[in-house]
Amino acid sequence: MRSRDQLPTARCQLPAALRLSAFYSLIYHYKLAAPSMTASYQEAFILRHKITLIPGDGIGPEVTGATISVLRATGFEAEWETFVVGAEALSRFGDPLPENLIDSIKRNKIALKGPVATPIGTGFVSSNVRLRKALDLYANLRPIKSLKGVPSRYEDIDLVVVRENTEDLYSGLEHEVVPGVVESLKIITDKASRRIAKFAFEYARREGRKKITAVHKANIMKLSDGLFLRCFREVAEDYPEIAADDLIVDNTCMQLVINPTQFDMLLLENLYGDIVSDLCAGLIGGLGVAPGANIGEEIAVFEAVHGAAPNIAGRGIANPTALLLSAVLMLKHLNERERALRIQAALEKVLAEGKVLTRDLGGQATTLDFTEAIIRSL
Ligand code: NAI
Repeated sequence: MRSRDQLPTARCQLPAALRLSAFYSLIYHYKLAAPSMTASYQEAFILRHKITLIPGDGIGPEVTGATISVLRATGFEAEWETFVVGAEALSRFGDPLPENLIDSIKRNKIALKGPVATPIGTGFVSSNVRLRKALDLYANLRPIKSLKGVPSRYEDIDLVVVRENTEDLYSGLEHEVVPGVVESLKIITDKASRRIAKFAFEYARREGRKKITAVHKANIMKLSDGLFLRCFREVAEDYPEIAADDLIVDNTCMQLVINPTQFDMLLLENLYGDIVSDLCAGLIGGLGVAPGANIGEEIAVFEAVHGAAPNIAGRGIANPTALLLSAVLMLKHLNERERALRIQAALEKVLAEGKVLTRDLGGQATTLDFTEAIIRSL
């Protein structure tokens, strides 16, 4: 392993385009070489943080490549342990979520993840859900903040969605009772409900947030959502300085569309959290700009809200903003605050100028154009 002092300075002076294309070929190469790292790759870079990298499917490698190019342009040094997940991992290693990937994240305690596709209505269990459960990443944090220059219905949204990540209807407990009748079990526990409520209140206290709204359907699911709500209310008593209220999920959706600025933080079970996150992403300009993090006691996996976007994959037009903002969250988590703020500022500048925007934001720029513009603005 090289020390920091042996930094080959020439690589920092490579033109952005070259760095990007080098990175894309790297991603491609290591998708093929995964899941094990090679010594030559390790030698090629200065090692500081060790981070597990999952480029993912569809637009995943494109947005991941762009994100890492921006990170590297700030001088961020990391050893990336790269893994394939999902259909490709299934065909190559017999498991869509290889065990050595889990080991890598457990070792490094941190991962940056692109989206991974899940077959619809058939096929293997979601690797995303399995990953969150295997690592007990119980909190899904999704800051939803308006970005100047990004066309959207509202301009001043600043709310945080906290989604419980491990249970609910995502427990995967489904079976056919008799032909033509299936049952899907919604699991809500006292332990997980208190834990996620505590996470939300601790986050609110740390980040100076004022109010948390628990979202539920306890009028219908009196036992399951009732338990979630009761735990929330009990935990709230330990945080008297933070306002706590609750709202039924359908009403929440309408209120979000009509007047989203009334909310500060939303706390939801897994399924409502999944749906409402996408709704909130839509309020600030779409899935291309909504970041996220999956957080456990010790481990954090940073990923965008969006999926693999097969409809635009491989065309070089995906918007990397969401993953880049997820990487900004990752940098803050790693105490790399100065770099995080530099990236955020550069991104905001490019978006606000509005000259180089990807198609989802009404522009014509490619992923590469957009990434280069950010690197130039750093
Ligand atoms: P999606 O989020 O992939 O796409 C929804 C729409 O948003 C599409 O029109 C897409 O083009 C657009 N979009 C998403 N990200 C974008 C970006 N960065 N730039 C520009 N446009 C973007 O949702 P969909 O189509 O429902 O899911 C596709 C696949 O992704 C499925 O297999 C699903 O299971 C998987 N998925 C994976 C997730 C993860 O890995 N965390 C999360 C959500 C879905």
